[in-house]
Amino acid sequence: MKFDIAVLPGDGVGPEVVAEALKVLRVVGERFGHEFNFREGLVGGAAIDASGEALTTATLRMCRRCHAVLLGAVGGPKWDDPLNKVRPEDGLLMLRKELALFANLRPVKVFPMLVNSTTLKPEVVQGVDMMVVRELTGGLYFGKPKKRWTTAKGRKAVDSMLYSEQEIERIVRVGFELARQRRKKLVSVDKANVLESSRLWRTVANEVHADYPDVELEHMLVDACSMRLIQKPTYFDVLVTENTFGDILTDEASMLAGSMGMLPSASLAGVPKSGVMSFGMYEPIHGSAPKRAGLNMANPIATILTSAMMLRYSMALEREAQAVEKAVLDALTAGYRTYDIMEEGKIKVGTREMGDEIAKAVGASA
Ligand code: IPM
Ligand code: MG
Repeated sequence: MKFDIAVLPGDGVGPEVVAEALKVLRVVGERFGHEFNFREGLVGGAAIDASGEALTTATLRMCRRCHAVLLGAVGGPKWDDPLNKVRPEDGLLMLRKELALFANLRPVKVFPMLVNSTTLKPEVVQGVDMMVVRELTGGLYFGKPKKRWTTAKGRKAVDSMLYSEQEIERIVRVGFELARQRRKKLVSVDKANVLESSRLWRTVANEVHADYPDVELEHMLVDACSMRLIQKPTYFDVLVTENTFGDILTDEASMLAGSMGMLPSASLAGVPKSGVMSFGMYEPIHGSAPKRAGLNMANPIATILTSAMMLRYSMALEREAQAVEKAVLDALTAGYRTYDIMEEGKIKVGTREMGDEIAKAVGASA
């Protein structure tokens, strides 16, 4: 099959880790007989430097014409001045909103050979395998009113946690669909003891549950959830929550896996069902890590696993996705480690070498 992929490497280590994912995808194409056409574009600081905008309409149009978008990372100290009119992050938020990517999937899986690279006890993180579904185009990030103004008594500012029942329904449905494909346990996270939007969220979640009687639904308050996540993370299968709660909980959950350099993500415009293709944007969870940029240090595994999610959700290539995931496991089993997951007795490699090993493993496994 033939696929067009918009490639937006972005800033910092973005271009380096994206290059390794493309390396792996080229081998996938050869081995399984697909043609991937990579169409490069600018986003974030790189786009600001070139055009003054964090995302140009031309780049956005190019993304719309592709099957999926693969993004590296955006941001860096060069563009960080709070007085700046445009920020690299604006490009990311614009892509999410304009491409209607409402469903952000952030899987957190602890690899057995890496249980010692976290700050938690190995027995706590052993066996962690959860999927966090974060609503991505609503809530405080985009709700109106959203503004800052001055009154006679001083300055004020407001952000609105606004949700419609349609927005809640479609994201909760994503949670149920994924739970159905996994261990059939969905935890819906809210703050229904305080927030009106959370009470609507809970009501709608209960209504959607009627379509998924085979899945167990539990409601959990966000503060209790943040505690449970580090106390007993293996408790969770699928979590679904609104935008800001999801932002915070996924940074917390990412630490279960030891390194941000291991975690992929997908942002979808549709409900993922097996065999169905949804347009999506794919990016590693980690940021642009400016201090590591250009040093051949960054761990490319998050981005390579991200490309596996792209094969799965935007191209319905499940076998190919699993081949990439297995190749990552093979490289880790063989002992290769980037600096962030390095342990005594292992083989320390750089970004490119890790990419080479994984690409080799994809090509080799039958
Ligand atoms: C994330 C990031 C973004 C967010 C920032 C960079 C705008 O923290 O993807 O989790 O808050 O969504
Ligand atoms: Mg975040």
